Amino acid sequence: MTANKLRIGLFGYGCVGQGLHDVLNNSRGIKADIVRICVKDRQKERRLDNSFFTFEKEDILGDDSINMVVELIDDADEAFEIVTGAMMRGKSVVTANKRMVANHMNELIALQEKMKVSLLYEASACASIPIIRNLEEYYDNDLLYSVRGIFNGSTNYILTRMESEKLPFSEVLADARSKGYVETDPTLDIDGYDAKFKLCIITTHAYGLVTEPDTVFHYGIRNINSFDMQYAREKGYKIKLVPYVGKTGESTITSYVMPRFISRDKYLYGVDNEYNGVVAEASFAESQFFYGKGAGGHATGSAVLSDISASSYNYRYEYKKRGQNVVTDYTRDIELQVWFRYSDSADIETIGIKDITESFRRNDYNYVTGTVNLQHLYDNREKIAVMDAFMVAL
Ligand code: HSE
Repeated sequence: MTANKLRIGLFGYGCVGQGLHDVLNNSRGIKADIVRICVKDRQKERRLDNSFFTFEKEDILGDDSINMVVELIDDADEAFEIVTGAMMRGKSVVTANKRMVANHMNELIALQEKMKVSLLYEASACASIPIIRNLEEYYDNDLLYSVRGIFNGSTNYILTRMESEKLPFSEVLADARSKGYVETDPTLDIDGYDAKFKLCIITTHAYGLVTEPDTVFHYGIRNINSFDMQYAREKGYKIKLVPYVGKTGESTITSYVMPRFISRDKYLYGVDNEYNGVVAEASFAESQFFYGKGAGGHATGSAVLSDISASSYNYRYEYKKRGQNVVTDYTRDIELQVWFRYSDSADIETIGIKDITESFRRNDYNYVTGTVNLQHLYDNREKIAVMDAFMVAL
């Protein structure tokens, strides 16, 4: 099979766009040239000749000689317009925009079917780890019990350095930002949205069920403090932000994003800094662990390049599991074991903790462990997000 020659129109030339440019320049096998780059900022100094750049979308979308669009911009609404505009004109598309893909999954699947074009987005979930294609192809017929992991590089970087160097949150966040790991709006990382977008994308490819991000409970690491780190350390745990999707019955799944205590014997314990890890539990393949860089220009650029290459051989996601219709329902009616550090005891009621197994009180530090219902957490998510408290799954 020979590859189609690709003439690429690139949108965005930030951290990932430049990373892609570097990895493409160092790749011999691929028949692809970036012929035009659309950017927003007219003043910025760039390391390529000005003739490459345009400020008009149409210069790429309306150019029939460009047969592939690679979308690497920040703004999810604008990205959706670019991606759908390119697909409507019959161009193949590669994107890394997790928020855009997660929020528009159904429309994007329908458009791929209607226009018979490929839309690939491996870089949108766990950057350099090829998890989407593995879920699509390898786990096509296996009974997948669950997929969980560390999907967000910047929070993992922050948690690692807080733990190993006892640095304050704000200092490590600034450092993660300077390294290009953090979203322009850091709330997306810190509060767990970014991990949730990736979880929703992974859910579609793992189970064939599209979950809207708004329907999935997420809780991030914004409120973590030194007591929480110390508690984890004393127990021999690390705290990681862990998205989870798994089966609760024959045709039903659940999913959520929460910090979790990870003991030394677990795969995720050794996943530190900006690295990501994914653990898949399946009935025949059993437990499998994927590990790789989850953020940064070159790591993400390498996944984009892999999609460009796959697209040049006409690879498309087939969303086979959607057709199989094995998983048809989603539930939040499950119980979770949590550790809950709080200052106001009314917050114990707000999270609805029951079957308390441990309770500790001191003038400056209190916690309980017990069971919470995911639906209850979801119903109270706005209050829970602003509590002076921190919740960790056990
Ligand atoms: N902000 C994201 C992260 C970048 O920290 O994982 C990669 O998607």
